[in-house]
Amino acid sequence: TGLVTVDPGFMNTASCESEITYIDGDAGILRYRGYPIEQLAEQSSFLEVAYLLTHGELPSSDALSGWIERIERHTHLHDNFKALIGAFPTNAHPMAVLSSAVSALPGYYPESVDPFDPETVELASVLLLAKAPTIAAYAHRRALGQEMIGPDRGKGYVGDFLRMAFQPNGTPYEVDPVMVKALDVLLLLHADHEQNCSTSTVRIVGSSHANLYASVSAGINALSGPLHGGANEAVLQMLTQIQASGGDATEFMTKVKNKEDGVRLMGFGHRVYKNYDPRAAIVKKAADEVLSKLGKRDEMLDIAMRLEEIALNDEYFIERKLYPNVDFYTGLLYKAMGFSTSMFTPLFAVGRMPGWIAQWREMMQDPATKIGRPRQIYTGPTSRDYVAAEQR
Ligand code: CMC
Repeated sequence: TGLVTVDPGFMNTASCESEITYIDGDAGILRYRGYPIEQLAEQSSFLEVAYLLTHGELPSSDALSGWIERIERHTHLHDNFKALIGAFPTNAHPMAVLSSAVSALPGYYPESVDPFDPETVELASVLLLAKAPTIAAYAHRRALGQEMIGPDRGKGYVGDFLRMAFQPNGTPYEVDPVMVKALDVLLLLHADHEQNCSTSTVRIVGSSHANLYASVSAGINALSGPLHGGANEAVLQMLTQIQASGGDATEFMTKVKNKEDGVRLMGFGHRVYKNYDPRAAIVKKAADEVLSKLGKRDEMLDIAMRLEEIALNDEYFIERKLYPNVDFYTGLLYKAMGFSTSMFTPLFAVGRMPGWIAQWREMMQDPATKIGRPRQIYTGPTSRDYVAAEQR
């Protein structure tokens, strides 16, 4: 093992070859299967992008409608599965509910766990995409102590997700098309991001030939951390605190730069982007437009924009190449839609689902795949002899 070198955080280790997502972090470029993220956000849709990521090509219009229809046919949850979610305390974090529910799925669909049968894998992929929003909507209602509302296929994937989350019990409810479009774009922007922490987790779990659900639920848990998907929740908490203490962005930034109590500007910085995250640029524009259109323009958006302006002109951030990442503005949109902060990371998970599935499928089909098993450099005591407890 003389050739083994330590690479903390895998800063310099490529764990695989992949045809799915291209990032040029210095230029701020992101492409799914070669298509620029800006074009997809403008012209495509979340489920079309989910097909693109998982199948490699954009679908024909027949293939697309077949794909959407198949997913929408499976959005319901069986009663005993609902009971499983209903057993959580109402103050359970929705990420705990989501990861547990996804872990439980293979128990309910044992016919879809063979990782090497293409039809089975397609079924598991469809089931995950179909069930994730329903589970997330139920987790949202659970936290509010509300009954679950079942899916209604005619409303569209994103529209019905919003309806399941927000329709008051027993009352008709029309989802705002502006919200539907905004959430569709947000989910699409999160759909894949190559070998980030959760996707690497999905791959390493799957490399042991664990089924797709087991691998994805591990990914959901990896996403929950504040340095990864949990950052969108942390951004809103940060903005709320700044607002509550008088809205002084400059004072907060001084704390960040002095690294007081390890405080970071959440939603800033990225392992790969050393330039403006192209997703953040799209979200910022959407937040500005959508909040104005809905008349929900928020003082916190102004605080966020002030923080950004200070950062982009400040030596600390410039020399470290710290720019807004995707999470900096997403929370403001989720909030305007009516989601509580604890739902922000589950929304990220619903969006990232196609990427986890696509990366897992690519890995399973790649003959070069081996079980993930990093090495280490041992730094503990050298050999020593056991001493009985009474002699220590
Ligand atoms: N605020 C203040 N300083 C920062 C920040 C920040 N947000 N991010 C990095 N730095 C500083 C860091 O202190 C270090 O400074 P120094 O050289 O003086 O020690 C330098 O920049 C390099 O940072 P690092 O932690 O070594 O960089 P990394 O590549 O290991 O971490 C990161 C990347 C995203 C974890 C980090 O930038 C961070 O913690 N950002 C805030 C959390 C966040 O927004 N995460 C979401 C990431 S994007 C979506 C996702 O993955 O879910």
